Amino acid sequence: MANFLLEYLRQPRRVGAVAPSGRALAEKMMEPIDFDRARLVVEYGPGTGSFTEELCRRKRPDTVLVLIEQNRQFYDAVRQRFRGQPGVIFVRGSAERADCILSRLGLGKADYVVSGLPFASLPKRVSLRVFAATNAILSPSGRFITFQYTLVKERFFRRYFDLPQKLFVPKNLPPAFVFVCAKLGESSAESE
Ligand SMILES: C[S@@+](CC[C@H](N)C(=O)[O-])C[C@H]1O[C@@H](n2cnc3c(N)ncnc32)[C@H](O)[C@@H]1O
Repeated sequence: MANFLLEYLRQPRRVGAVAPSGRALAEKMMEPIDFDRARLVVEYGPGTGSFTEELCRRKRPDTVLVLIEQNRQFYDAVRQRFRGQPGVIFVRGSAERADCILSRLGLGKADYVVSGLPFASLPKRVSLRVFAATNAILSPSGRFITFQYTLVKERFFRRYFDLPQKLFVPKNLPPAFVFVCAKLGESSAESE
């Protein structure tokens, strides 16, 4: 099993946390997902699989789940842990290339992108490339679900996405916000 703290010490800006996300946050990340409708879900930065576990538990067997992880240790850990799950595809690579990855796999647009990426600490140029790739792969009604520990980056997100829903997870350590993003101009009114 990959050691989260060790990977953080190796790549602090890219790992962005000293421990995996807890259950309460993982469950909140699932709330916006309509699992009956989802045909293609992409997860960025699964780490050791906190969100992946919930996705695998809830998704239909014919829903394709593409996991994109750049870190070798996390990639190996998640592949080992979820090997044999129906419809799960493991990709070692960067979410910056999510559009190329999906087209190489011959897959269409994603209904949901679930992200564990630490946008607060990633270099800005990396975040911008991830946002561009995400806009390219999301279906018009798709949702990009990500979490933040503060609201400092909210304006940054709003430059590239609509933010129809924001959820709060007080039971996470530290407490977290889940941003439910949509392509600009594609979100209908939803309650905050
Ligand atoms: C804060 S950890 C979250 C891990 C897990 N989702 C969780 O919530 O416990 C961030 C993860 O994003 C991965 N990551 C960082 N930059 C990435 C990139 N450009 N493409 C794919 N994965 C990336 C890291 O290796 C790490 O697994």
